[in-house]
Amino acid sequence: MIARPIETRAVGAHHDRVDGPLKVTGHARYAVEHGPDEGVSEHLTAWLVGAPVAKGRVLRVDATQALATAGVVSVVDHESARRLDDTGEQGDGELAILQDDRIHYRGQIVAIVLAESAEAAREGARLVHVQVEAGDHVADLDSEEAELYAPEEVNAGHETDWSDGDVDAARAGATVVVEGDYSIPYEHNNPLEPHAATAHWDGEVLTMWDSTQAVHAVASTLAPMLGLEVEQVRVRAPYVGGGFGSKGLPHSPEVAAALAAMAVPGRWVRLAVTRQQMFAMTGYRSQSRSRIRLAAEPDGRLLAIEHDAVAPSAAVKEFVEQTATISRMMYAAPARRTTHRAAALDINVSSWMRAPGEMPGTFATEVAMDELAVACDVDPIDLRLRNEPATDPETGNPWNDRRLVECLEQGAERFGWSGRSPEPRTTTDGDWLVGTGVAAATYPTLWMPGNGARIESRTGGRYAVGIGAVDIGTGARTVLQQIAADALDVPVSAIDLAIGDTSLPAATVAGGSSGTGSWGTAIVQTAQQFRADHGPEPAPGLHTQTTTESYPDMAGHALHSFGAVFAEVRVDRWTGEVRVSRLHGTYSVGRIVNPMTARSQLLGGLLMGLSAALHEEGVRDPRFGHVVTQDLATYHVAAHADVPPDLDARWLEESDTLSTPFGGRGIGEIAIVGTAAAIANAAWHATGVRVRDLPVTADAFL
Ligand code: MOS
Repeated sequence: MIARPIETRAVGAHHDRVDGPLKVTGHARYAVEHGPDEGVSEHLTAWLVGAPVAKGRVLRVDATQALATAGVVSVVDHESARRLDDTGEQGDGELAILQDDRIHYRGQIVAIVLAESAEAAREGARLVHVQVEAGDHVADLDSEEAELYAPEEVNAGHETDWSDGDVDAARAGATVVVEGDYSIPYEHNNPLEPHAATAHWDGEVLTMWDSTQAVHAVASTLAPMLGLEVEQVRVRAPYVGGGFGSKGLPHSPEVAAALAAMAVPGRWVRLAVTRQQMFAMTGYRSQSRSRIRLAAEPDGRLLAIEHDAVAPSAAVKEFVEQTATISRMMYAAPARRTTHRAAALDINVSSWMRAPGEMPGTFATEVAMDELAVACDVDPIDLRLRNEPATDPETGNPWNDRRLVECLEQGAERFGWSGRSPEPRTTTDGDWLVGTGVAAATYPTLWMPGNGARIESRTGGRYAVGIGAVDIGTGARTVLQQIAADALDVPVSAIDLAIGDTSLPAATVAGGSSGTGSWGTAIVQTAQQFRADHGPEPAPGLHTQTTTESYPDMAGHALHSFGAVFAEVRVDRWTGEVRVSRLHGTYSVGRIVNPMTARSQLLGGLLMGLSAALHEEGVRDPRFGHVVTQDLATYHVAAHADVPPDLDARWLEESDTLSTPFGGRGIGEIAIVGTAAAIANAAWHATGVRVRDLPVTADAFL
């Protein structure tokens, strides 16, 4: 049985966050607030010790002083830690901690201190003396020893290189060619709740309360590494304080929590990664560079698109962001070339951060499009309208519902775009130079097979609905209840939803903007199967469990969401201070399940894009190999004072039942896409200074 489209009533309507009261009263429990009695006294606290050099060998972990500290119970190192089973199927170098003496990056976990209190654990960690033999390391993409190579594939399984048509001939015949180098610095996911876990090993079963975006992925990754059956690893994540991708895949602290618990069977172990350690241990957005070349007719119609992306990757585990894939599908052109190259460096492991690929890619391409508009003397919106592809340029497939033009036109109307001077530096407000900019956005509709749900009828017309999905703060718990209610044809209040537990049917990651669509489809399919099995008025205690492998109409279409971002930027003519005074996003994302949680997601994405545009910059010191801006004082993120007075997100009224049975597509990531480009384009319009490297800071304008 395959899910069929449903009638929507609760879906599309406002519904309060079902976990709102628990959260605002402090009763929602997070990863380190669990244990045998849900209290604090019986825990051991684990504290992680990181490698002091970027490459080399651990000669000795001297724990003498640490173990002499009151409250310190144990120090686990590469000699005493449990042996892992060849680190599972992938041979994952990031996760294979404490197995040998090799150091692959600065900050890699080399010891775990276990103590009766957090204070003792921290003091013990300070007193662990790690003696090392340092080797030569390379931590700088510009180093002569950093050799570029072509990875076999890039993130999410995309092809490394992809071309179409004769790019060189097309460029040679073009009247206008715009060329530039664009860069994104290291950016670090900083969810409010750090990565954390509470773990317990009773000799048979490993139990973890984990701060993760995917409980089943944690269990299925850890179990084979630890020589366990997946049923022997129970992972729960009832509440998670954000992730932005950094909790989408297990990282080394989760392995450390398991190894620590296994070192002290029967004891509960609490492990919270510190904010500073997060900059080394829990993934981040790689630095990346894009060379863009756009060749066009005088009226702006593209003849060739070239996008060559370069990024560093950790030698211990490859991760290469799909930065150039945006250029395969966004605009029409008879010829294009896209490539990705990486250099393996002795650095910590990069991973997912909100819209990997699309976010850095669109910064480059949407600034380049603005430059092409200037070169052709065409309005930036008209330029994009002239390059609309009738079908997906990469696959040739028809679009499910490409409505970028409407996003641009409705956004322009609402923002007040018409009458904008094409000339930069023409508007002032006192000492402020004022400008406006636009950028397009897109994100693919990722739908994950293999999600399951379980539905059981209860007395009083109620239903228990279970799925192992995680709500990382997005509102998933609320919207899944709305979807379940419509699928079962009952009020939202009749649904008892259980999520975030590997004892529930398998669920894929809260990532790739795929959760609501993939989990929601599993719930719809299960509800439809339940009603087929038991009728519309079932007796209490009947149940059905199913797993979804497909949704019928997806194949053969190019499934994407689209959006348009408009920004107004002010630059102080004397100090170069940059402020965003207006920021609007207009999106085509299918049916919105809950306007409140959706608006929150979209505004959050816009602000994270603003943060990348103006503030975020991880600075790596190549002499030592680590990111030195490892706290929120030196790694700036947008704060309340940076929020524009006019911040708004809207969406088109629509329903896309090609993508899901309730007509919605994912919205977690699209609002960070294009936002930094819109802001950089507005900064150019204010000042006449073109900034191609993020973040856009005052020095560029002085
Ligand atoms: Mo998000 S970066 O897909 O977890």
